[in-house]
Amino acid sequence: MVAALPLTLRGATLRRRGRRLVGPVDLTLGPCGVTVAIGPNGSGKTSLLRMMHGLQRVAEGAVDWSLPEAEARQRQAYVFQHPIALRRSVLANLAYPLRLRGVTRAGARAKAEEIAARFDLTAQLGQSAPSLSGGEMQRLALARALITMPEVLFADEPCAALDGAATREIEGHLTAAAASGTRLVMATHDMGQARRIADEVVFLLHGRIHESGPAARFFAGPSTPEAAAFLRGDIVE
Ligand SMILES: Nc1ncnc2c1ncn2[C@@H]1O[C@H](COP(=O)(O)OP(=O)(O)O)[C@@H](O)[C@H]1O
Ligand SMILES: [Mg+2]
Repeated sequence: MVAALPLTLRGATLRRRGRRLVGPVDLTLGPCGVTVAIGPNGSGKTSLLRMMHGLQRVAEGAVDWSLPEAEARQRQAYVFQHPIALRRSVLANLAYPLRLRGVTRAGARAKAEEIAARFDLTAQLGQSAPSLSGGEMQRLALARALITMPEVLFADEPCAALDGAATREIEGHLTAAAASGTRLVMATHDMGQARRIADEVVFLLHGRIHESGPAARFFAGPSTPEAAAFLRGDIVE
C-alpha cells in the first residue's frame, strides 16, 4: 500500500484574522516513531497539530502528504484535548468512523466490540457516551481514533485532564498503537510523559520550532538555552 508519509511542511504558517498562530514551520515527519511537541502554553502545539491534520488551511507555505490530500486525510485520526462524543451509545460512537467508510453495520459492530474489549469499555458499550467519566471518555476517543487503524494519529494533550492511573492507561494504548505501526504525533505539557514516549521532540516557542531532534539527545542536553530552561521548569516566554 502506498503511504501517506512522509509529511513535509515547508514554511507552513497558520493565521487567524491576520495574526500568526504558528509558523513558518519546516518539518518532515518520517514513516515511523513518536514525535512529541512540547513548549510553553500558547507556543503553538495545538496549532501545529491542527495545521498538519488540515483542520485549518495554511496562509503561507505548504503541508504536503505523500498522497493526494483527500486520501491522506482518510488515513489520519485526531484526538482532541477535550474529547467530544456523539450523543449516542459508546457502541455507536465506535462504529461511526467505520460506517463513514462504508463498513456494514454488522462489520462495524464486530470491530467496535473488539476494540471496546481492548480499551476496557465492554461494560459501557450500551451507555450513552456523554455520560462516561473523563478517563472512559478519553479511552473512547482514542479507541474511536484507532478503530480505522490510521497510519498517523495526532493526539493533543490526550491526558491533560486525567489522573495518574488513567494517564498510564492512555499512554499504554498510545505506545501500543505506535508499536503496531501507527505514526504518533502528540502534544503534551507533561515532560515526564514526553520523556516516556517520545522518539523525536519538537520544542516550540512563539509559534516556531525553536529546537527539534532525537528525544534522547534533547533530554540529555538541549542545545538552546530556552529549551534547557523549559526542561528545568523555568518560565520561558
Ligand atoms: N481559536 C483561536 N483564535 C485566536 N487565537 C488562537 C486560537 N487558538 C490559539 N490561538 C493563539 O495561537 C497561539 C498558539 O496557541 P496554541 O496553538 O493553542 O498553543 P499551545 O497548544 O502550545 O498552548 C497562541 O497565541 C494562542 O493565543
Ligand atoms: Mg494546546
